[in-house]
Amino acid sequence: MIVNRPLSRRHFVAGTAALTASALVPKSLCAASSSATARVVVRTGSEIGVVRPEFHGHFAEHLGSCVYGGLWVGKNSQIPNIDGYRKQAVEYLKELGIPVLRWPGGCFADDYHWRDGIGPAAKRPKRVNIHWGNYIEDGSFGTHEFIGLCRLLNAEPYLAGNVGSSTPRELRDWIEYCNYPSGSTLSAERAANGSPEPFRVRYWGVGNESWGCGGDMRPEEYARLYRDFAVYCRDFGGTELFLVASGPSGDDTRWSRGLMDGLGWERPQGISMHYYSGGADRSTNFTVDHMNDQLSSYAKVEASIIHQRAVLDSYENGKKIGLILDEWGVWDNISEEDEKRYGKLWQQSTMRSAVAAGLGLNLFNRQADKLYMCNLAQIVNVLQSLLVTDGPEGEHCVRTTTYHAFSLFKPHRSKTAVQVETDGSSPLALSASASKSDKELVITLVNPHHDSDLEVDCTLSGLNASGGTAEILHHADWNACNSFDNPDKIIPKQHSVRVDGSKTQLQLPRLSIVTAVLQIH
Ligand code: AHR
Repeated sequence: MIVNRPLSRRHFVAGTAALTASALVPKSLCAASSSATARVVVRTGSEIGVVRPEFHGHFAEHLGSCVYGGLWVGKNSQIPNIDGYRKQAVEYLKELGIPVLRWPGGCFADDYHWRDGIGPAAKRPKRVNIHWGNYIEDGSFGTHEFIGLCRLLNAEPYLAGNVGSSTPRELRDWIEYCNYPSGSTLSAERAANGSPEPFRVRYWGVGNESWGCGGDMRPEEYARLYRDFAVYCRDFGGTELFLVASGPSGDDTRWSRGLMDGLGWERPQGISMHYYSGGADRSTNFTVDHMNDQLSSYAKVEASIIHQRAVLDSYENGKKIGLILDEWGVWDNISEEDEKRYGKLWQQSTMRSAVAAGLGLNLFNRQADKLYMCNLAQIVNVLQSLLVTDGPEGEHCVRTTTYHAFSLFKPHRSKTAVQVETDGSSPLALSASASKSDKELVITLVNPHHDSDLEVDCTLSGLNASGGTAEILHHADWNACNSFDNPDKIIPKQHSVRVDGSKTQLQLPRLSIVTAVLQIH
């Protein structure tokens, strides 16, 4: 496992039932089903950084049934809605808490012209969505509808600006339209369209994947364009902008260095990287080996974050730039049948996906000092989503296993992450993270093994706990999911935790996520 900084590693796996540390390796290397003891040390005095709520951010693109039919069903729909927003989706998302929501893309953003999505819906032009299936995009979900959704969810809006097929003027005007309070022609237009109050949008992406669908550029070309655009992006009405430059795909340091070398005096506040964990199988039909390949990729995600942070830090004032994991999650082999039925890139979340989410969210805690924001791709129906609906016309809206994995990490928000030592260095070893406030210590453990239950002995170094509670998300079948017929098959349940001063014991069955919230003094 890659840790935040070098720690003296203590290898103390103790076998039970005549098993040894081999119980902690994948089935392909160890045939028998097993149980083992693993030890964890929480260094409560070694603080890493704040677990920013923005590590639990999300992304909505005009793609498949993410927006249309997912979040937005329209005011005249038979599906219960709040002014056009799918009611059940809003309720579930509010319950979880969405700190930040990025929109309208993705690749879509660099072919989107914001004026196509304002004014009377009937008059909005019809465009072709060239990236995601050439369907007719009628613009009925535009800037006002997006801001309305963010207000309903209490989420911070994050708008992705078009650099690939647009001009600095167009982006500058969008910012003025959103943020200038009153008196200018653009702010008057916003008021006439129903919003006299400015939207005060802080987060603005300056292009998306500019090395690919966002313009197919070389880093120096993009850096030049970034400068051209950013210089006209102003703090209209006093809303201080946080500009996000398009960063690398995965750990592409050639892109990051090229971008940093080409930037001028005006540095972005954030640089985004995208890292998807590909899957060779359909989401509900994974083989053990393919699951283990996919879950192993989270060690690479963690290494990339450490690496990319180091690249940014090596530049003058680079430390001030926030590293944003703008798109992440599992991207399985998409089923054509599901796509036809439910929308492009529609993907079910299984227990495997939940474990993947747990590995990701744990590593964000461990790298809390290196990250600014992380946005899962995508919030509804597309790729690794929180909710799935049965197509744009479907009434069902189901919380996925990924939704429940995120809910298990909620207690970490705004606490201070602390160092944790675990057994083993395999990418499939027990994953752990911890965070604390004055009164609570929160520990999340993820057992990614499909064939080995773990009894975890946890030592709290530096403090004692007086009691605690725990919740578990678990299913022994990695292909199991919450379906339209059985929406609550996999949900968090109360779990027993033994607390005795500085010692805590927890059972982690194979393929499980456990969060313990301990009272400390
Ligand atoms: O999330 C789907 C697509 O993946 C996005 O549009 C793009 O940014 C990335 O390649």
